[in-house]
Amino acid sequence: MDKLIISGGHPLHGEVMISGAKNAALPLMAASLLTSEPCTISNVPNLVDVETMAELLTHLGVSIERDGDQVIVHAKKPAGEASYDIVRKMRASYYVLGPLLGRLREARISLPGGCAIGARPIDLHIKGMEKLGAEINVEGGYVNAKAARLKGAEIFLEGTKGPSVGATINVMMVAVLAKGTTRIIGAAAEPEVCNVAAFLRKMGASISGDGTHEITIRGVDKLHGAEFKCTPDRIEAGTYAVAAAITRGRLILRNAPSAHMGNVIQPLLEAGAEIEASGNHLTVSMMRRPTPLVVNTAPYPGFPTDMQAQLMAWLSLGKGTSLITENIFENRFMQAMELVRMGAQITIKGNTAVIEGTDHLSGAEVMASDLRASAALVLAGLAAKGKTTVSRIYHLDRGYERLENKLAGVGAEIKRVSAPDEE
Ligand code: EPZ
Repeated sequence: MDKLIISGGHPLHGEVMISGAKNAALPLMAASLLTSEPCTISNVPNLVDVETMAELLTHLGVSIERDGDQVIVHAKKPAGEASYDIVRKMRASYYVLGPLLGRLREARISLPGGCAIGARPIDLHIKGMEKLGAEINVEGGYVNAKAARLKGAEIFLEGTKGPSVGATINVMMVAVLAKGTTRIIGAAAEPEVCNVAAFLRKMGASISGDGTHEITIRGVDKLHGAEFKCTPDRIEAGTYAVAAAITRGRLILRNAPSAHMGNVIQPLLEAGAEIEASGNHLTVSMMRRPTPLVVNTAPYPGFPTDMQAQLMAWLSLGKGTSLITENIFENRFMQAMELVRMGAQITIKGNTAVIEGTDHLSGAEVMASDLRASAALVLAGLAAKGKTTVSRIYHLDRGYERLENKLAGVGAEIKRVSAPDEE
C-alpha cells in the first residue's frame, strides 16, 4: 500500500487548481440513469470513488466514456443490481437506487453498511421512497425496491441528525418521474444538492426550492440527455485553505466555489487567516498561529463536518484552547489520536474535542483511517518539524485528486512511495 512521506516546515506559496466536487460528481453520474439518452458531465474529478461509480454503472449495462475531465454516461437500457462487492467499496453506490426505481420502477442494491465514521444508515432514503409508493424490503443485506406506480407526496425527510444529503438527492431522483407533485420538507441544502437539481432541470425535470430545506418537484413522464458541468469541490478548496494557513504561506485557489464557502471561510477568518474571495478564486494567507475557536459542525449552511478534521489539525497549533463538537457523525475524531502522536494535545469528551494549542508538532509515522482524517494528517505533516509518514493513503485517493502533486507544486516536500502490503 502507498504511503506519503512529508518533510514539514515549508510555507506553501503559489496557485492550486480546485477540481470538481466528489460529492456532486457521484450523484450526477448516477442521475444519468434516469434517461435513455447520453449525458455529458464535465469537470468530473479523477478520483477512485469516481472510478468505482463508473464500474458500478458499467456493471448495470451503462456505457461510460471518459475523456479528460468529461464523462459521457449513456444508460440505454440499464439492468441488474448494485452488488455487495462494489457497494462495500463505496457507500455512495446507493445513488443508483433512486434513478433505477424512478426509471425502471424497480431496483436491487446491497445495503452499504457502516464505515469508519459511523453507522451511516439509509432509513431516510427508504422512508422517502416508500412515501412515493415504492414497496421496499431489506433482506439478506440487500434493499429490494419496486413500485407499480410512483405518486408525488409530502415527505418529511429530516432525521435525528438533521437533513440528509444522500436521502434528499436519492428521493429527488425518484420524485422527478413520479405522477404529481412532491414536497421534500427538511431537505438538505448543500451546494451539491443544488448541483444535482440543476442537472435534473437540464434533463427536463421541474424542481424548485433546492438550496432551501423545502424542495418542490413536479413529476414529468420522461427525461432527456443533457450536458452539464460539475460544481467545484468546496471541501477540497477548504482543505487547501487550511494548508496555506497551517504552513503560514499564501495560496491562490483557482476555481474555488467561493460563493458556497462562507461556512468554511468564516472560522478561518475568525482564527486570523487573511482571505480574499474574488470571482472564481480564493486567496488565503496566514503568518501566525491561529486564535483558538469554539466550532460546531452542522448541516449547510453551518460548518461542514467534512472540514472538521482539517480544522482540528490547524487548531492543534493554536494560541489557546479550542473546542470542536462533531454533531453529524458518531465517530469522526479518528484523526485525533494520530495528531496526539505528533505532539498535539487533544482530549475527547463525548462528541467534543478539547484542543490545547501547542507551538509545534513533530513528524511521526501515522495511519490514515478515513478520507478527511487522512487529509488532516497530511496537513499536520506539512507544518510539523521533521518527517511524517502517512500510511493507508488509499483513503485519500478516494477524494483528493493528485494531492501530493498539487502540494508539491506550491512548495511542499512530499512524495508518494509504494510500500509492501501490510499484514
Ligand atoms: C454526504 O454523505 C457526503 N458524502 C459526506 O461526505 C458528508 O459528510 C455528508 O453528506 C454530510 O454532509 C457524499 O456526498 C458521497 P447524510 P451522506 O445523509 O449523504 C444520518 C466525505 O468525506 N442519516 O447527509 O451519507 C447519517 O448517519 C463524505 O466526502 C440517517 O440517519 O450523509 C448522518 O449522521 C463523508 N439516515 C446524518 O444523517 C439516513 O437515511 C447526515 O448524513 C441517512 C443519513
